[in-house]
Amino acid sequence: MVGPMELDFPIRADWIFRWTQSEVDLTRLDEDHNPLPGTAHLLSQSEPLGFAAGRGPEQVHLAFTDVESEMRVMFVAEDAEERYVRYGEEEEKMDEVALARVERYERDDMCDAPANTSVGWRDPGWVFDGVIKCLKKGVRYYYQVGSDSKGWSKTHSFVSRNEDSDETIAFLFGDMGTATPYSTFLRTQDESISTVKWILRDIEALGDKPAFISHVGDTSYARGYEWLWDQYFVQIEPVASKVAYHVCIGNHETNWNPCSGHSKPLLLIQ
Ligand SMILES: [Fe+2]
Repeated sequence: MVGPMELDFPIRADWIFRWTQSEVDLTRLDEDHNPLPGTAHLLSQSEPLGFAAGRGPEQVHLAFTDVESEMRVMFVAEDAEERYVRYGEEEEKMDEVALARVERYERDDMCDAPANTSVGWRDPGWVFDGVIKCLKKGVRYYYQVGSDSKGWSKTHSFVSRNEDSDETIAFLFGDMGTATPYSTFLRTQDESISTVKWILRDIEALGDKPAFISHVGDTSYARGYEWLWDQYFVQIEPVASKVAYHVCIGNHETNWNPCSGHSKPLLLIQ
C-alpha cells in the first residue's frame, strides 16, 4: 500500500525511514502476544528527513523547589541557545522573565545497550531548567518557554503553592508507562493514555486550587530506548505543565542491569 502518512515524532535529530519486508517472528512477541518489528530485511530507505525550525520547545514540565514561592520549569529544545520562561498573572501580560540554564547528556553517559547503541540512542536535545521566583500564594500564573529567535511554546498555567491553605491535593500513582502511535521494539503501554486523561480531567475540575503529582516509580518503561523517554515527556506535558510533577525511584529507575537496559540519567525528572 502506498499513500500519505502522518506521524508526530517528539525528537530533534534527522530520521531515515526504512522499508522492510514483513518480518513476523513468532519468537518475538510482546506481553500481549503482538508481533514486534524486525530490522533485518531492508528493501529501501528514504533520504534523511529533518524538522522545520521554530516549533518551540517541548516536554514542558513543572517541579517544586525547596522554596515555597518558587516553581521550576523544565523543557527540551533542539539547541543550547538561550531560552527563557516568561510569565505573569495575566495571559496577556507575561512580562516577567527567568533565564533557563541548560544541560544535555550524551550516548557515552549511557550504561549499556540498547541505550548506548544505534538502536536505542537518539539525540535527546538540550534540557532547559528555569526557576520562577517570588510567587504569590495560591495564585494562577501563565507562562511560556522559549525565545524570540527560536520560538515560544504555547501558553501554560499553574496555581502556586499556598502554605496558608488547610488542604493538600495530590495525585499519587505508579507504573504508568508510555504509549506510542506505532509498534516498536518493546511493548508500550496504551493504558497510560487513560491515566493521563483522567488526571487531567481532575486537575481541570480543581479550578484554582493548587495540587501536585507524585509518580511513585516506574515512570516511562523506556528500558533503554531514548525516544520512549521523549514520547513519555510529551505524553505527560498536559498535566506536568499544570502541576508540579515529582517522581520516586522505582525498580525500573534503580535496578539497572545489562539485561534490562534501564539506563537514563535522572536529569530529566528532577
Ligand atoms: Fe512496575
